[in-house]
Amino acid sequence: QKVVLAYSGGLDTSVIVKWLQETYNCEVVTFTADLGQGEEVEPARAKAEALGVKEIYIEDLRETFVRDYVFPMFRANAIYEGEYLLGTSIARPLIARRLVEIANETGADAISHGATGKGNDQVRFELGAYALKPGIQVIAPWREWDLNSREKLMEYCEQHGIEVDYAKNKKKSPYSMDANLLHISYEGGVLEDPWTECEEEMWRWSVSPEQAPNDATYIDLTYTKGDITAIDGKEMAAHEVLEYLNKVGGANGIGRLDIVENRYVGMKSRGCYETPGGTIMMRAHRAIESITLDREAAHLKDEMMPKYAELVYNGYWWSPERRMLQAAIDESQKVVNGVVRLKLYKGNVIVVGRQSEDSLFDASIATFEDDAGAYDQKDAAGFIKLNSLRLRIAASKGRGIE
Ligand code: ARG
Ligand code: SIN
Repeated sequence: QKVVLAYSGGLDTSVIVKWLQETYNCEVVTFTADLGQGEEVEPARAKAEALGVKEIYIEDLRETFVRDYVFPMFRANAIYEGEYLLGTSIARPLIARRLVEIANETGADAISHGATGKGNDQVRFELGAYALKPGIQVIAPWREWDLNSREKLMEYCEQHGIEVDYAKNKKKSPYSMDANLLHISYEGGVLEDPWTECEEEMWRWSVSPEQAPNDATYIDLTYTKGDITAIDGKEMAAHEVLEYLNKVGGANGIGRLDIVENRYVGMKSRGCYETPGGTIMMRAHRAIESITLDREAAHLKDEMMPKYAELVYNGYWWSPERRMLQAAIDESQKVVNGVVRLKLYKGNVIVVGRQSEDSLFDASIATFEDDAGAYDQKDAAGFIKLNSLRLRIAASKGRGIE
């Protein structure tokens, strides 16, 4: 048997390599991806080799991650439960896809991951894998073994001669974290009490709004079909856009979030997130849509959005219904071109200007100064009269004020 493991190079997934080799007596193939988490991925090679792994995949997936997953999701303005920008959720379908592709390449019959049995990530990895390779076998060690504490994991390492120096050297974070170019997330530890404010030292990507500069930063974002293609007139690849926006956003105290969310498996969970670039993109995208989209197209998108966000959160990226919604959303974005000017200031993203060749905004119609255009104010009387017809009928039957 051969298993492809989503391998971070950290303590947990290193234990998983050994555990799979022993428990399933199988060949383990490791897959480590650079999704812009800000940590070197290359050291994972030596660690995997030390564990006896022969087929080691290490890949820079930053561009495909942002171009093919993050950007399409931002075209939808997707937000889960009114707050969460889905930073972890959107990375899982890509990892699932690569796990399956590598299984095909190496002739493996199973995949494995380091997500626990209590969270969303297991669902996302596995729904993705089954959707792309129906016969695949999935091994989720956290649901099978009894190594459910730090101490037990360390003990296992000692017993099996797994080098843990890297776990000791790195200053151990008290949180369960996940990072990629879109966000960094923190869960667990003191955060498990939703009344406890997290300490300032927890945050890694942003300064606090209090510490942010007293002078605002202005940026111009150029949109092409709903995606940002240039910043301040300079063309950039998708992952460069997000990298840049994370930097300016973080420096201006933008994108911190502290929420309690509903996991798909049923429990409530408290999480803190830093999404500086994503927070900027969300605001700016709505601004460019505000002048380029037809009203009803925009409103329909807003109705579809919560459904789309839920599909991404729950792990249904590779579903027919997500693809259907995506097709409709992408169709709407053909006209979403132009430039948005933003002012970033102490945690705020303020839209100060927007312009587009595809703008539907017509000053000569909107103005209060002039009446000569396409709009005759007298027409409004009939518009209101007919729209009020059913209300007038109801009122005449005594259904006015209760
Ligand atoms: N609660 C967030 C989500 O479900 C973040 C999950 C973080 N995952 C992790 N392995 N630390 O998308
Ligand atoms: C995990 O359980 O592995 C992380 C949290 C989550 O997936 O929701």
